[in-house]
Amino acid sequence: MTVTAAQNPAEAGAPVPAVVRQSTPRHYLMCRPTYFDVVYEINPWMHADVAVDQELVMAQWENLRTTYTELGHRVDVIEGVPGLPDMVFAANGATVVDGKALGSSFHYPQRRAEAAHYNAWLREHGFEVTEAVAVNEGEGDFLTVGPRVLAASGFRSDPSWHAELAAVTGREVVSLKLVDPRFYHIDTALTVLDDDAIAYLPEAFSPASQATLEAYPGAIHVSAEDAAVFGLNSVSDGRNVFVAAQATGFIEQLRAAGYVPIPIDLSELLKGGGGIKCCTLELRPAPEAA
Ligand code: ARG
Repeated sequence: MTVTAAQNPAEAGAPVPAVVRQSTPRHYLMCRPTYFDVVYEINPWMHADVAVDQELVMAQWENLRTTYTELGHRVDVIEGVPGLPDMVFAANGATVVDGKALGSSFHYPQRRAEAAHYNAWLREHGFEVTEAVAVNEGEGDFLTVGPRVLAASGFRSDPSWHAELAAVTGREVVSLKLVDPRFYHIDTALTVLDDDAIAYLPEAFSPASQATLEAYPGAIHVSAEDAAVFGLNSVSDGRNVFVAAQATGFIEQLRAAGYVPIPIDLSELLKGGGGIKCCTLELRPAPEAA
């Protein structure tokens, strides 16, 4: 949602960007990284011989959590489970739209047991959960843009999941294909900034998907350098964009477009091939409760 400066008298007289972005409060689920580690390699970022600094990962994760709450968002926390080092990447735990959840079904056996923990947490907290049929890694491969849904396949989620998503969410699903193994989930290659605004790395998508994405007016194309530090693994509330501190070019692009970049350093989690968005599952409420 955007409001022009002329419509916002509070900004009159002050130097303002062309548009004033509005934030809306969100509800997130995050998983504490108590058992985070890199002990297997299922994406090109993971190297099992690189040690994780447990104290630093906890401090970086805690900084993200408190930054969300300080900016008015609600964050619930699911505790990690021993033996599930990637459970910290909550975005993969489920897909939640309009208060309805669709469970995940992980591609790699190392992560499969996570799904039941997320489903149990969601049920305990009042969400209706539909068990997944097709392989899918939840919100890692799924993003809402206004009333629509962008869903990816290519590395993790099966394309047949897109029909399941449409059935459970009742939303129009736009299917996209990822082609670069470094950007194996859609949330590493595309950020939703607002109901009608996206930023992405074109070459992470197939030519047909690039053509589909070109239909989004005013989309920000992000550089390969910024994508390679997980700049696109960002979370936006419509105004504040929680973005990898290392993605300096993207941070400038966001500022120029009237967003407020909130740089966050999750360098320890990048060792697992994840970042800000990967650690964040958005729990979108039922419309009447919104
Ligand atoms: N190590 C995890 C995996 O490869 C990282 C998941 C990142 N999550 C995401 N939403 N992109 O499955």
